Amino acid sequence: MLRILAVLAAFCAVTYGCPTILTKSQWGGRAPTCRTAMATPVTYVVIHHTEGTSCTSQSACITQAKNVQNYHMNSNGWCDVGYNFLVGEDGLVYEGRGWTSVGAHAPNYNSNSIGISVFGSFISRNPNTAAQNAVKSLISCGVSRGYIKSAYILKGHRNVTATDCPGNTFYSTITSWPRFQY
Ligand SMILES: *[C@@H]1O[C@H](CO)[C@@H](O)[C@H](O)[C@H]1NC(C)=O
Ligand SMILES: [Zn+2]
Repeated sequence: MLRILAVLAAFCAVTYGCPTILTKSQWGGRAPTCRTAMATPVTYVVIHHTEGTSCTSQSACITQAKNVQNYHMNSNGWCDVGYNFLVGEDGLVYEGRGWTSVGAHAPNYNSNSIGISVFGSFISRNPNTAAQNAVKSLISCGVSRGYIKSAYILKGHRNVTATDCPGNTFYSTITSWPRFQY
């Protein structure tokens, strides 16, 4: 009986809460030009919006993922897209730097956080339910896979840097999500 429970627990630990994550190569993203490995599990999860165009289909979100990556690499001169993950209102997750690379999304937090950005501008509306569920499920996934501490702290970008990100409406929503702290 204990043995069965242990097997079930191990099974749930690896599968519970993981959304569909399109890898960089699956969405046709560019390889990073440099990379710093990140020690895990991290303490923080930082929520962003891209403040760009939103998308509700995989093809439209792929276009946006490429746009954001090109902007971060070509205009900002970064090694890769700044975020660890991007999320669309198609309910899918698009891999950015992933679980184990230091991002460029929140000064002072980059090396101890997973930065998750939703495509779109959420100043006066929320991301749809599919996108919100994908973000929540990605966080649970990171915890279950050991990349995020189970006692993690959830933050909005605006509480770590002078920015409006992730938009007034979405920010207000995440303040009631589990483990949120200013
Ligand atoms: C966090 O951001 C909210 C909204 O901008 C602001 O009202 C609050 O004072 C901030 N708190 C801290 C500690 O930065
Ligand atoms: Zn941000």
